[in-house]
Amino acid sequence: MPYPGPANRFRAGRMLAMSTAPTALPRVLSGIQPTADSFHFGNYLGATRQWVALQDEFDPFFFIADLHSITMSHDPKLLAQRTRVAAAQLLAMGIDPERSTVFVQSHVPEHAQLAWVFNSLTSFGEARRMTQFKDKSAKEGEGAASVALFAYPILQAADILLYRPQYVPVGEDQRQHLELTRDLAQRFNHRYKKTFKLPEPYILKETAKISDLQQPEKKMSKSASSPTGIVELLDDPKVSAKKIRSAVTDSDTEVRFDETAKPGVSNLLTIYSALTGRSIEDLEKAYDGKGYGDFKGDLADVVVEFVTPFRDRTKALLDDPAELDGILKRGAERAREVAARTLADVYDRVGFLKA
Ligand code: TRP
Repeated sequence: MPYPGPANRFRAGRMLAMSTAPTALPRVLSGIQPTADSFHFGNYLGATRQWVALQDEFDPFFFIADLHSITMSHDPKLLAQRTRVAAAQLLAMGIDPERSTVFVQSHVPEHAQLAWVFNSLTSFGEARRMTQFKDKSAKEGEGAASVALFAYPILQAADILLYRPQYVPVGEDQRQHLELTRDLAQRFNHRYKKTFKLPEPYILKETAKISDLQQPEKKMSKSASSPTGIVELLDDPKVSAKKIRSAVTDSDTEVRFDETAKPGVSNLLTIYSALTGRSIEDLEKAYDGKGYGDFKGDLADVVVEFVTPFRDRTKALLDDPAELDGILKRGAERAREVAARTLADVYDRVGFLKA
């Protein structure tokens, strides 16, 4: 695993600390929005899959970013359901609530409270430069976008800095938000008192970019992809297999990784490699002279083998909402212990009178 491993003393520290003091492992933190009925290969292979491995070497905080999901129009019933589905999927993919703190963002009010303080540190022009805001507001025009959408990256900075993590594992598209987070941390430290350490993005290069199956020049995304361009983890496995078999390739026959000349084939190779752990070179050799039919057929099988048990595990978790909600409640309690301490420091340094 290409994760930067911390020194062994952290491991020992954690073993000793397990039942009493907070763990000495360095923290990582990440979040995902509950905006869809299922994670797709873009967010799974590009981000959440890496979260599972991080549990061995870090003290992870993973949350469902429901506050972020109301920055665009949403359906309240769907939001609640999707929040549970997102949590169930995290657990189904191997996030272990004994080793990771898994929670729902709105269960920890400190996120919104710290965001307000950070709003006061962010200039209008700075927020305006965020490319995600530009993209997301482009459809209906900037004037129609919510103020919350504008402040989205500032809330994200609060999410992160509350837990003082060392790394933030995210997809490439979040890099700019991480930079803003570091800027705000630094600004707070200068203006008031050193409070935050600067978190580093943790972006995995090989799997960070999964493309649309039908338009491989574009990234796979819920908002931009057509239904046939996107593979959803909770979809009927037969449907996903069919999407893989009908993925756009090119008029050539060679299974070779070349993102510029062969974006479709390269994307399928990336997915194949990510799901099986086989290297791209190995796959290129294995399909040398075989053509796209065999290649896509095999990948379709690989996908079915992966999504079938994943879907079963997620369903089992969703069938027991009391158990699932209990896990999230315990997660939120643990998260609040850390978040409340940070917020208390911040409030004190800003000059708020103690309640
Ligand atoms: N903006 C992130 C995304 O769309 C989700 C997110 C919200 C996040 N808060 C975060 C990711 C804090 C990492 C850390 O993917």
